[in-house]
Amino acid sequence: MASVDGEGSNELVQAQAHLWNHIFNFINPMSLKCAVQLGIPDTIQNHGQPITLSELVAALSIPPAKTQAVYRLMRMLVHSGFFAIQKSPQDQEGYVLTPSSRLLLKGNPTSMSPFLLAMLDPILITPWNFMSAWFMGSELNPFETAHGRTMWDYAGQDPVFNEFFNEAMASDARLVMSVVIKECKEIFEGLTSLVDVGGGTGTVAKILAETFPHLKCTVFDLPHVVSTLQGSNNLDYVGGDLFDSIPTADAIFLKWIMHDWSEEDCVKILKQCKKAIPTKDKGGKVIIVDMVMEDKKGSEHESTETQLFLDMMMMTLVTGRERNEKEWKKLFLEAGFSHYKITPVLGLRSLIEVYP
Ligand SMILES: C[S@@+](CC[C@H](N)C(=O)[O-])C[C@H]1O[C@@H](n2cnc3c(N)ncnc32)[C@H](O)[C@@H]1O
Repeated sequence: MASVDGEGSNELVQAQAHLWNHIFNFINPMSLKCAVQLGIPDTIQNHGQPITLSELVAALSIPPAKTQAVYRLMRMLVHSGFFAIQKSPQDQEGYVLTPSSRLLLKGNPTSMSPFLLAMLDPILITPWNFMSAWFMGSELNPFETAHGRTMWDYAGQDPVFNEFFNEAMASDARLVMSVVIKECKEIFEGLTSLVDVGGGTGTVAKILAETFPHLKCTVFDLPHVVSTLQGSNNLDYVGGDLFDSIPTADAIFLKWIMHDWSEEDCVKILKQCKKAIPTKDKGGKVIIVDMVMEDKKGSEHESTETQLFLDMMMMTLVTGRERNEKEWKKLFLEAGFSHYKITPVLGLRSLIEVYP
């Protein structure tokens, strides 16, 4: 035990500060969620110039008595880099957006607001309170310990959760596809058909069908996700279970699917994919969008932490995990694929082409 004098007391208070930082870390996302629910990013954007505290309070229709509380919320979010302070043309200090809060604007086609609100919804937050109970119990994951069923069953039984979860995924898909089409459009060239397996409400497939009018795109997902959706010329929706069978096509697209599942399940999914595509010389391939965890020591602290967060999330909400290249390679070989190519163009995630 550290003593309270000399170097020992310094260590003691530093350890306490470190602990406090981690105990209260949840205040970051909760403050951000509050700002999104109040519509603060859009209000600042609509103002067209730095917005003063009193202008912000008035524009949000918050009672003036809560002005100091808004100031304290904004001070927190300026500290965490979501807003900044600038002088207005009238030489008054006001709040402006930063690149991170621009991603939260509702009208922004790549808005991450639906993703933020879904990830911080009590349905997805509650399982974190059940982690230790899960370690000692027999359920699949803390989500099941908390809610008595898997997340996919919950989505099948609760239309509100189903809708906001799918919209969260769609918002991520819009952002990712804007980069994929800009940076690596060529990976789809030469393909005549593609199935987006676990493709949600079809955001990826719609973008591909519009960008490549000769590509026949199919969205394959659980019936509760796709049953009410209408296709178009070169886009259709098929309901089913990816463990049973997958519609055939030149290419299978798997975005944020593999990290949901265990090694054993991933090998089963990849084997189903292999059955659904032609041989490599006939253009067959699987295209995966997922994270390739970095093993490098000394890599950027925030990125490493985010990768670890996502890995913990896969353990808590589903039965999957994030994987490093060695672990990915093992899956591909076990499922009978011969080689793969990783293109790290998606920030923390990569595009992985896998060939039979
Ligand atoms: C994490 S979401 C990813 C959605 C989409 N690919 C994206 O990234 O925007 C996983 C998707 O897999 C679907 N899914 C889960 N289990 C499935 C199964 N057994 N068969 C088919 N789809 C499934 C879910 O309904 C959900 O749409």
